[in-house]
Amino acid sequence: MKKKIIVNKEYTVGTIEPELWGSFIEHMGRAVYGGIYEPTHMCANEKGFRQDVLAAVKELRVPLIRYPGGNFLSGYNWRDGVGKNRPVKLDLAWGQLEPNHVGLHEFYDWATEAGADVMMSVNLGTGTPKDAAELIEYCNIEKGTQLSDMRRANGREKPFGIKTWCIGNEMDGDWQICALTAEEYGRKAAETAKMMKWVDKDIRLIVCGSSTPDLNTYPEWDRVVLQHTYDYVDYLSLHRYYTYTPSGNEWDLMSSHTDLDAFIKTVAATADYVRAYKRSKKRMKLSLDEWNVWHTKPTVCNPDVHNDINEEKWTIGPRRLEMVYDLADAITFGGMICTLINNADCVKAGCLAQLVNVIAPIMTQKNGGMFKQSIYYPYLLALRYAHGTALRLKICADKRESVYGDSEPVYAACAYENGTYRIFVINKSEREEDYTFDFQVTPVIMTGRTVITGNLHDHNDFSHPDTVVPREERCGQTCAAEHAVRLPAYSITLFLFREEK
Ligand code: AHR
Repeated sequence: MKKKIIVNKEYTVGTIEPELWGSFIEHMGRAVYGGIYEPTHMCANEKGFRQDVLAAVKELRVPLIRYPGGNFLSGYNWRDGVGKNRPVKLDLAWGQLEPNHVGLHEFYDWATEAGADVMMSVNLGTGTPKDAAELIEYCNIEKGTQLSDMRRANGREKPFGIKTWCIGNEMDGDWQICALTAEEYGRKAAETAKMMKWVDKDIRLIVCGSSTPDLNTYPEWDRVVLQHTYDYVDYLSLHRYYTYTPSGNEWDLMSSHTDLDAFIKTVAATADYVRAYKRSKKRMKLSLDEWNVWHTKPTVCNPDVHNDINEEKWTIGPRRLEMVYDLADAITFGGMICTLINNADCVKAGCLAQLVNVIAPIMTQKNGGMFKQSIYYPYLLALRYAHGTALRLKICADKRESVYGDSEPVYAACAYENGTYRIFVINKSEREEDYTFDFQVTPVIMTGRTVITGNLHDHNDFSHPDTVVPREERCGQTCAAEHAVRLPAYSITLFLFREEK
């Protein structure tokens, strides 16, 4: 079979929302303390935030950052993080101390400086619907009530005006503080959502779906929760992380996109079922608000993944889920980016989990430097180029078996905007692959390409920060309907094509 990728701008999937490329900062490990915030660091500003880390986040132009958790959320009292009295608390989720030096005001100001909106979360573990509604009042009511005036007294006159809110986190998992059954959570989330929207009708709400398809409550959890909440919420949340399967081979890892695609489609179908059952006109949006590669066991590049909550227990900013990402991880990550684009009709928000030090593209050293991991770069490319309309591509090639089902060695996605095509392609094969792009509607000029490639276990670290970096190439000016390209072995390539004016 001639290997080709058919591109037809009339076959659209849907609009790629900017919120698809959000990220996540949780009060866990060294994400906040020793990550974005390190008052004794030479690069810290007067508020204690590291300016070198802020610059790396700014460079990404992340539109939205989820906060403050994660599992941490389910034991968190937002009042501990505002005002003068900041108690030191035990965080049971991650076995760490929470000093509450950083809270809502500090984080909001930091995110604003980074150019991001905050996706705020309310605690449905130890928290109540009343606590949630009061937090909206504190954040979004202008003045003249106890809590809006408390915000003003705490130094913020204008409302924060936070628009997007998560109702709890992974409430189906027994690792969660005060986990609930689907019935219990569905009822509690519905009542919470009602109160939250009564305080501010303009907010958008995200309800917890199944945290992972590995639990045997999936996808029934999603159905039950939506039966209770469909009329009150705007998004259903999904979380998905990938690591090596028992086969231990990179091909299976890099084929994770196949499984993510099936996961998204099953959740979307479940939401559509509830929509039909309720005769609702509303289409539930999906929010993949945690996704990444997360190695829970040692790998070639990670002798220790700091997955144990007893390590450095009851300290501030202990190491948690710190790992080095290699090229195989970056290709896996690139495949997930393609899957997000290919499901842009239903996935309308997303958060890379996480942003700094904890399963993160940015790593810092205490009183030292920082480096950008291999996954930083495909994320940067998505943030820069995956806008506009997602097109449905057709990939013609033989498939290979993987633990997640058969898939082609090459996987791709396309974002189309104003006459330009941005095509993301991963090559999981150990060989160079020759493909032809077949543009069916108009001939195009290839204007550039950016390639990330190397050996599978190449990675960046503090002493070699630039081993895995993108290489940009400018291209010729031939306008044609077909373009033959060579994809390097083990690579991520972003191709830019433009229609002739
Ligand atoms: O992102 C790390 C953790 O993964 C989050 O706290 C939790 O929501 C998920 O299980």
